[in-house]
Amino acid sequence: MGIQFEDVSYAYKGFKVNYDAIGHITFDIKPKDEFIAIVGHTGSGKSTLVQHMNALLLPSKGHVVIFGHVLPPKKSEKINYLRQKVGLVFQFPEYQLFEETILKDIMFGPKNFKSTEQEAMEKAKRAAQKVGIDENLYEQSPFRISGGQMRRVAVAGILAMEPDILVLDEPTRGLDPQGRKDLMAIFQDIHEKEHKTIIMITHDMDLVAQYAKRVMVLDNGTLVYDGPKERLFEHPHFEEFHLDMPTPLKILKHLEKEIGLPYKPHYDYPSLLQYLKEVSHE
Ligand SMILES: Nc1ncnc2c1ncn2[C@@H]1O[C@H](COP(=O)(O)OP(=O)(O)OP(=O)(O)O)[C@@H](O)[C@H]1O
Ligand SMILES: [Mg+2]
Repeated sequence: MGIQFEDVSYAYKGFKVNYDAIGHITFDIKPKDEFIAIVGHTGSGKSTLVQHMNALLLPSKGHVVIFGHVLPPKKSEKINYLRQKVGLVFQFPEYQLFEETILKDIMFGPKNFKSTEQEAMEKAKRAAQKVGIDENLYEQSPFRISGGQMRRVAVAGILAMEPDILVLDEPTRGLDPQGRKDLMAIFQDIHEKEHKTIIMITHDMDLVAQYAKRVMVLDNGTLVYDGPKERLFEHPHFEEFHLDMPTPLKILKHLEKEIGLPYKPHYDYPSLLQYLKEVSHE
């Protein structure tokens, strides 16, 4: 009952005649406990795909079913509430922000979904604190802050709505390494403690290796892989997906080739280090 795509295609009007931005896509995402990375080349259709998940785009062909509701063929009031259930953080945060002040911007979602002014303010402040937005920024314009801060505000705006499923379109883009770590720790925390399903588009394969459980690979608008992360990196046709190997796996493959260290997959630095310590004591 999470998100189902049944043979979904989408063509932008006037976009490459008879060519779909995404084509014939079918999958099923559970409402809880999934951590999915969506990867693929620039222009492969990732953003187009996720915009169907909260009805920003409606399929040209096929069906999208969100929490049991089949999306109607035309936009209507009825689909608005889905935006609260599936929160989407845009690839370009400046498209998402529009209020005069940062605090008002973060309050917009909860207010729109029936919270009182007081409740909206509390939710907004909680979300702002979670993503590390300092109180002295609350009254500033969201357009007079850095790109990284804008992204935090955009994320806070979605967190404040307390959606069941979080969809993040390149959430760490434009952040410095510490900012990236902090934000990923927040998503990981929400996933582990609240069991929320997280769907994240990224070009960073190290993040995929470290955080995702399931990966979807898009190539030219087609879903060419959908399965566990572990199987993706061992896939016999991995090279055809045109993806980078995550750094810990690159290191392990290199060590196997150069010094014959038995290859065992490890997806983040601490577990890679642990493995190296173990073998060096043998
Ligand atoms: N508003 C639009 N109008 C027409 N064509 C579009 C529009 N948005 C995207 N496209 C086209 O649809 C295809 C898929 O674009 P999309 O933005 O979904 O790719 P993406 O995988 O998110 O890329 P990136 O990694 O660069 O963000 C591309 O060929 C793109 O040019
Ligand atoms: Mg995109």
